[in-house]
Amino acid sequence: MRIVLVGPPGAGKGTQATVLAGKLSIPHISTGDLFRANISQGTELGQKAQEYMRGGQLVPDEVTIGMAKDRMSEPDAAGGFLLDGFPRNIAQAEALDGILKEDGEELDAVLDLEVPEEEIVKRIAGRRICRSDSSHVFHVEYSAPKTEGVCDICGGELYQRDDDREETVRKRLAVYHEETEPIIEHYREQGLVTTISALGSVTEVTGRAMAALGKS
Ligand code: AP5
Ligand code: MG
Repeated sequence: MRIVLVGPPGAGKGTQATVLAGKLSIPHISTGDLFRANISQGTELGQKAQEYMRGGQLVPDEVTIGMAKDRMSEPDAAGGFLLDGFPRNIAQAEALDGILKEDGEELDAVLDLEVPEEEIVKRIAGRRICRSDSSHVFHVEYSAPKTEGVCDICGGELYQRDDDREETVRKRLAVYHEETEPIIEHYREQGLVTTISALGSVTEVTGRAMAALGKS
């Protein structure tokens, strides 16, 4: 399956994508995680992305689209993928349409995670991620690691993301409403969107997502 997960910062895209990708045996492709990996490896791409991410702004399309396309063309993604955080504006959605068309492929579904703003604030304030792999995500209250500050999965150090400061979160939310929400309408016109509530436990949300994909 080829799936796009969309939703505001802190909605639980990364959390759900990890579980869903495992259940569906497809890779989880997160442009945010790819940028963070590039930043920690000190690559040129990471250096370009870092200042935009710190400011809560989108990394320019010419950097992002090429990176996403390269990742989607890796062998493990030949049979499908779950995109998390891409596309994030209309230009990226159109670029993705073009990439898929070139390969004679189509999206199967777009899952839109809906969550009230007060819950977003709580989720982001308590989030801790792993320094070795930013797809290892915890929450100090809702999804606490067994040992404080240590990743359950790989033993890496947990830390708070640079862009999770209150001021930057507000900017990211504004960018989401202005630039990312319009892609939901773009995909609604293609009949691909299911909106699901992202409230409740991680397992409950996964159940809704699987049902929306016709997999329950
Ligand atoms: P990105 O990394 O994609 O961040 P984001 O979209 O702002 O989303 P988050 O990762 O903050 O939230 P999430 O929805 O994944 O929530 P999570 O599962 O962690 O992007 C970062 C930056 O990179 C962007 O600002 C931009 O600069 C750049 N970028 C990335 N992609 C780009 C693109 N395509 N174009 C241009 N620029 C791009 O969950 C949050 C917390 O809640 C966690 O602590 C989790 O444990 C907890 N939680 C999750 N589910 C539940 C639940 N059901 N109940 C209780 N707690 C829960
Ligand atoms: Mg994420």
